[in-house]
Amino acid sequence: MSLLELDDVKVHFPVRKGILFDRTVGHVYAVDGVSLKVEAGQTYGLVGESGCGKTTLGRAVLRLTDITSGQVVFDGTDLAKLPDEEMRTFRRRLQMVFQDPLGSLNPRQNIESILSEGMAAHKIGEDRAERREKIKEILAKVGLPANALSRYPHEFSGGQRQRIGIARALVLEPDVIICDEPVSALDVSVQAQVINLLEELQESLGLTYLVIAHDLAVVRHISDVIGVMYLGGLVEEAPSDALYAAPKHPYTKALMSAVPVPDPEVEDRRERILLAGDLPSPANPPAGCRFHTRCPWAQDRCGTERPTLVDLGDGHRVACHFAREIEAGTVEQTRSTGIEAVVATAAVVAKEAEVTEKVADPLSVAIPAQGEREPSGAEGAAPDAEGAEVAEGAEAADGKASPKS
Ligand SMILES: Nc1ncnc2c1ncn2[C@@H]1O[C@H](COP(=O)(O)OP(=O)(O)OP(=O)(O)O)[C@@H](O)[C@H]1O
Ligand code: SF4
Ligand SMILES: [Mg+2]
Repeated sequence: MSLLELDDVKVHFPVRKGILFDRTVGHVYAVDGVSLKVEAGQTYGLVGESGCGKTTLGRAVLRLTDITSGQVVFDGTDLAKLPDEEMRTFRRRLQMVFQDPLGSLNPRQNIESILSEGMAAHKIGEDRAERREKIKEILAKVGLPANALSRYPHEFSGGQRQRIGIARALVLEPDVIICDEPVSALDVSVQAQVINLLEELQESLGLTYLVIAHDLAVVRHISDVIGVMYLGGLVEEAPSDALYAAPKHPYTKALMSAVPVPDPEVEDRRERILLAGDLPSPANPPAGCRFHTRCPWAQDRCGTERPTLVDLGDGHRVACHFAREIEAGTVEQTRSTGIEAVVATAAVVAKEAEVTEKVADPLSVAIPAQGEREPSGAEGAAPDAEGAEVAEGAEAADGKASPKS
């Protein structure tokens, strides 16, 4: 059995209306039937467009958000059904590191106070002196000096503050750490340091990670297995290398196709799929396959029947009725607007040269975060493509990237 197993997890937020009588008029289907397994000592990377439910899923695992239905089995215990009292003891073993290190640290508390708070609550360390020793040990592990103890969050840089966030999780001796966009608020050079630190800590302490990110480059580097989310559901899951070498779901293909290839010959032959249109609202998700309103291969069946994840071999799971046919080239494309599948022509190559110039890190593609998505008909979109496209989103979210290598 895996250390963490999610089975058909759903988190539906009620939408309420009315002044006198508060009534539920609908639901936001933020997470809608996610099943996945995280093996002990491994890293599961979760990627997807802004609003697809990544954070909600992470919070649901820790029960910081109520689970509508499904199971979250951690070390053999279903957390979804655990009374609050018992959940408290499990919370120590499952910790979270947040995107915004400053926002998640109380500015009025010094580092010792921040780090010892949870320790005292979970009865780690006999007394203050013992806790202080433990904190010093952990600070050294995350690369901070012992004199950080008496200092305050604003006295540290962004990268150092994220190290404090990681230390705060580590002092509780967790088994699993859920890292929600752990480096997206940091400069690129610092991002690499923090990712390396997470890897080192995993090795030395045997930690298990669930890393949430909209930047595919971040999860690729650190993950053993990657899951791609779209509108509340997992659409593809595979060992990291396999997913990057041969994405099989049309949505993942579109995301990957936005990554410029450094080799000009390969780049010339590269097929790009331009994603038009925004993510539909999770309050009113499309019937059938959630991706059928944007998918270039959508067939009649896709509009009525929701595909489940099917293992196509070697643990490569794909939720698409036509994944095999698309791979074999035996299914026709059906859409000429919304999403365009464009084989690189001279015009496209010229366009890509422009995109390549803007995308600083050739291995990086960032899925647009909240508020970063290009507006419809954004400058740089293919002439007949409606709405934002993935490649453009990559640029939009990439102001932080490093120079091209
Ligand atoms: N407490 C809540 N009440 C109602 N709707 C919510 C609540 N929390 C999240 N949502 C909605 O659920 C959906 C998923 O949100 P979530 O924050 O999980 O997305 P995300 O994938 O983490 O996005 P991002 O990449 O922008 O962080 C969104 O439509 C969001 O507006
Ligand atoms: S099931 Fe249909 S709409 Fe969904 S990804 Fe596959 S081909 Fe596209
Ligand atoms: Mg989020």
